[in-house]
Amino acid sequence: MQHIAHTAVEVIRAKRDGHRLSEEQISWVLGGYTRGEVAEEQMSALAMAVLLRGLDERETADWTRAMVDSGEVVDLTGLERPTVDKHSTGGVGDKITLALTPLVAACGAAVPQLSGRGLGHTGGTLDKLESLPGWRARLSAAELRRNLDEVGAVVCAASERIAPADRKLYALRDVTGTVESIPLIASSIMSKKKAEGTGSLVLDVKCGSGAFMKERGEAALLADTLISIGTATGLRTSALLTSMSTPLGENVGNALEVAEAVRVLRGQGPPDVTELTIALAREMIDHCGLTGVDPEEVLSSGRAHSRWKDIVRAQGGDPDAELPEAAHVRTVPAPATGRLAVLDAYAVGVAASRLGAGRTRKEDEVQHGAGVRCLVKPGERVESGQPLLELHTDTPESFEHALAALEGAHEITDGPVEPDPVVLERRPGARHDDARNGS
Ligand code: URA
Repeated sequence: MQHIAHTAVEVIRAKRDGHRLSEEQISWVLGGYTRGEVAEEQMSALAMAVLLRGLDERETADWTRAMVDSGEVVDLTGLERPTVDKHSTGGVGDKITLALTPLVAACGAAVPQLSGRGLGHTGGTLDKLESLPGWRARLSAAELRRNLDEVGAVVCAASERIAPADRKLYALRDVTGTVESIPLIASSIMSKKKAEGTGSLVLDVKCGSGAFMKERGEAALLADTLISIGTATGLRTSALLTSMSTPLGENVGNALEVAEAVRVLRGQGPPDVTELTIALAREMIDHCGLTGVDPEEVLSSGRAHSRWKDIVRAQGGDPDAELPEAAHVRTVPAPATGRLAVLDAYAVGVAASRLGAGRTRKEDEVQHGAGVRCLVKPGERVESGQPLLELHTDTPESFEHALAALEGAHEITDGPVEPDPVVLERRPGARHDDARNGS
């Protein structure tokens, strides 16, 4: 490629005035930003120009590639099994990774699940797994490869060397009002997935009060942008649009969610969590070309549960240990008799976080036993005074703050209630060959 000298001001002005950025400009500006040669104030101006003017499909793919190129790409070539990963855009009670990873590994794929920690009202997979005594989120590159070979899955923290441009830019977007840009969100997610070396990807794009995208149209646009980046960068990608208007399953909070995921693996999980786990597993094994494997059968055979134990042990954890429990529990009774029409995911997520399950700053510690149990799901009948929610915490002074978050979060009605389906829609990606041919 011919190298042309750029200045950050020229790139900012071009986007500010609504022009398309060239591949050269994008790779120059993101490379320079990673090395500290493009200043934070210049990058924040550019991020705002992108938020206001957008990036088209080609620019978004170039932006993603430049963020991948800013760091290391994990080399997963040479594994015996096909690799496939799942990414969720984040929700409340979303413990799907915990049950899905062993299920897909037990179906014959290798699952490199590089995960994050919770921030705000959504939980993080690593915080959940750290409820298991001894379990380690940090693995060396050699351990990651060995575990993928031996047990078919890892769930671990991404190395700092993965997409460092995204790490810097995400922190900057957070404090400059530039998070809510679909091309920036999509390139941020996909750059990490590309750099993590997976061969294919299934996205769980959540939609509703507890999700990043509150509206169905926005969620569909995000899903399509993610898929188009996957296609442009040779990563077979498809997406399910799923409901996040109410918490997924019954339990919200770290150890509470691990306990529920184990129930799913034993065939005794809440129907919504089990249904979504199987739907995502089907997508993943389809991407891998593992024909003739039925994830529902693998789940009911107990093979996924036994694989869970192997995966936990391979990262130093004890799958049979007692899970931490909070010292204090308070029940919230139903205020009336009828059917539960609404149980708002965002409010429950905030309440769980205030009880100690989440963090408001990166440096905060989480309480492993804290959280909320949703004892009644939308559509079910309740009697006035019957327990509706259970609040768990080690810090009883947080009950009032959590209860304040739950004000107006539930509605009981006399009429019929039609809860949202779990899977709202499937957005298929291009076939693998199409992805490679760029068609
Ligand atoms: N998750 C990411 O990884 N990046 C974003 O920009 C938003 C959510």
